[in-house]
Amino acid sequence: MPPCDFVPEKYESYPYERMQKIREQNIAPSLRTYYKKPLLLHQGHMQWLFDHEGQRYLDLFAGIVTVSVGHCHPKVTMATQKQLARLWHTTNIYMYPAIHEYAEKLTSLFPDPLKVVYLTNSGSEANDLAMFMARLHTRNFDIISLRGGYHGGSPYTLGLTSLTHYKHGVANGFGCTTTMLPDVFRGPWGGSHCRDSPVQTVRKCSFACLAKDQYIEQFKDTLNTSVPKTVAGFIAEPIQGVNGAVQYPRNFLKEAYQLIREKGGLCISDEVQTGFGRTGSHFWGFQTHGVVPDIVTLAKGIGNGFPMAAVVTTKEIASSLAENLHFNTFGGNPLACVVGAAVLDAIEEDGLQKNSEDVGTYMLLELAKLRDKFEIIGDVRGKGLMIGVEMVTDKDNRHPLPAEEISQIWEDCKDMGVLIGRGGLYSQTFRIKPPMCITKSDVDFAVEVFCTALQRHVERAAAK
Ligand SMILES: Cc1ncc(COP(=O)(O)O)c(C=O)c1O
Repeated sequence: MPPCDFVPEKYESYPYERMQKIREQNIAPSLRTYYKKPLLLHQGHMQWLFDHEGQRYLDLFAGIVTVSVGHCHPKVTMATQKQLARLWHTTNIYMYPAIHEYAEKLTSLFPDPLKVVYLTNSGSEANDLAMFMARLHTRNFDIISLRGGYHGGSPYTLGLTSLTHYKHGVANGFGCTTTMLPDVFRGPWGGSHCRDSPVQTVRKCSFACLAKDQYIEQFKDTLNTSVPKTVAGFIAEPIQGVNGAVQYPRNFLKEAYQLIREKGGLCISDEVQTGFGRTGSHFWGFQTHGVVPDIVTLAKGIGNGFPMAAVVTTKEIASSLAENLHFNTFGGNPLACVVGAAVLDAIEEDGLQKNSEDVGTYMLLELAKLRDKFEIIGDVRGKGLMIGVEMVTDKDNRHPLPAEEISQIWEDCKDMGVLIGRGGLYSQTFRIKPPMCITKSDVDFAVEVFCTALQRHVERAAAK
């Protein structure tokens, strides 16, 4: 494990067993924990986490793609402490410096005409509001999303979220329609030149590389059959997050945006996971597709773990909401705005977008070597530090590796000190989305651990 001179405080809270009991009795059971024996995490420092026994872990999942600049980043912590002593809260019915300073700073990172921000508390709330704005502004109702997408768990956004295990069989999703996911690895069309990633699929190209056109035909089919002549909008993540870093063919989003605009709809980019430099080449994921959305939603990395989120849009679209009152007590409160501003400073001062590109590309290429070595790695994909490693029974049939086999590899990585996320319809994809401050030597360590876990899997399979 790479050295780290940070010494965690001594753990002084309840014993592990008592925590487990509280969990069983007093915490909603819908909140599930990772791992057979869930970790009790006690402290964080940049890319490192420490459990109650002082064991150190390399965090490759960042609290689900949320700790953008590093756990307890000193600059963010200091700015927050300063603001804590000055003013915690007053709503936006008054003026206070933090919201103005932050609004100016955040919107300066967007191209024209995306210059107006509405601050919220979570990604679901941001997407709720984006849907609401699109409907109000266009006076249309229907919104289209891609299958496999996750856009939130609120009753409104559940209609956009298209993953069975988040659906609950209650009435929801009025006016929401999903369309085929242009997944160039697992979908019906794809090949070895389609996506914007240093690593392409191992698939042979189908139809002389016309995967994008085939998927656009499916998109048109949805527009022709499942929605009225005019729509309120279309929402997509630039790279699907929860579904396991799924990437679309180049130019797919560009053409889809055009088709939606022809139907009077607005295009919403859900940057909850892809924003703030994580994809490396650009600050926002939509820029990697050469499009300018009408509405952009932000959360997770925006606050490095502080509960805050945002909707950025044009003045014209935002004005539709101003025809009546729309209020939010906590959105844009002074603490949140100070945290948000310090996160933006840290990204800039620590060079984290460039680090995402350099370290992310290095990691993708190292993982691609493992894919070539192990039959059960079907795909390595992503951009910057938004990486997916999809596990299969073999590369030709692309059937997902059985869950219990994937889980054992994942548990082994954890036992060797590396925390990785899971995603995909069958939980078949390892998600690697660490704090953007990780280094190449962290990557070397993680890849070595992953390789060891895969070798152990091969040995277990051979012994059966
Ligand atoms: C792409 C995307 N959009 C929206 C959300 C919802 O954000 P929140 O959990 O903050 O409500 C998530 C959460 O995982 C997400 O990944």
